[in-house]
Amino acid sequence: MRTRVVAGNWKMNKDLSGSRELAQAVARAADASPSVEVVISPVNIYLGAVADTIRGSKLKLSAQNMHWAESGAYTGEVGPTMLKEIGCSHVILGHSERREYFGEDDALISQKLRTALAHDLTPIFCFGETLAEREAGRTQSTVEKQIRGGLEGVSSDDLTRIIFAYEPVWAIGTGRTATPEQAQEVHQFIRALLSDMFGTDVSSKIRILYGGSVKADNAAELISQPDIDGALVGGASLKPADFEAIIQAAR
Ligand code: PGA
Repeated sequence: MRTRVVAGNWKMNKDLSGSRELAQAVARAADASPSVEVVISPVNIYLGAVADTIRGSKLKLSAQNMHWAESGAYTGEVGPTMLKEIGCSHVILGHSERREYFGEDDALISQKLRTALAHDLTPIFCFGETLAEREAGRTQSTVEKQIRGGLEGVSSDDLTRIIFAYEPVWAIGTGRTATPEQAQEVHQFIRALLSDMFGTDVSSKIRILYGGSVKADNAAELISQPDIDGALVGGASLKPADFEAIIQAAR
């Protein structure tokens, strides 16, 4: 049985008091749904304050990004040990906004993935096709390239520690969600691809989230698909009632 995950990516939103307030509400919702792994990902500089706010609850804390090195001359960056020390158990890697605006490519993401695994942080590894790629019939080849590139150097032992997140770029922040059938088709493909790549049937162990305009009213149908193990949520994770409804949909 794969534990379902609902993760909220707050992106560059919420001030300090707003972050604390939202975290408090989500912590209550997480404690009311112990069968679901609930994760929030606030802005880096508020991670410590949010960690204090949610201490004692089941809610897990994630960073939105991380550097591949432990420490060193990397102005503006944050390393894995620092994130762990402040209370993070998870880290989002390879988000499409990192790929698009900050030039992150598969090779860089794979370095970060290996660093996260080496430091016992759970990576939430994101990938997905653009609209142009989907319309050109290149959804599967794009996803396959990103997964193969990102997992370079990752051992089969570590594979099940990664949370995969399929996020079609055309669905992120657009209000245009993949249909449950479209998402399920790609999730099924990913599961088969990973089994094939690692030469072992990992299909029952790997968790794959869907992300891209997940809302309170479409979450249940998406998450009920056989190969969808939860959701990575942007916009709707900023509204406590909506995020709580998505957590409930994953129970
Ligand atoms: P969205 O964002 O739910 O606002 O589409 C999802 C994401 O970027 O992870």
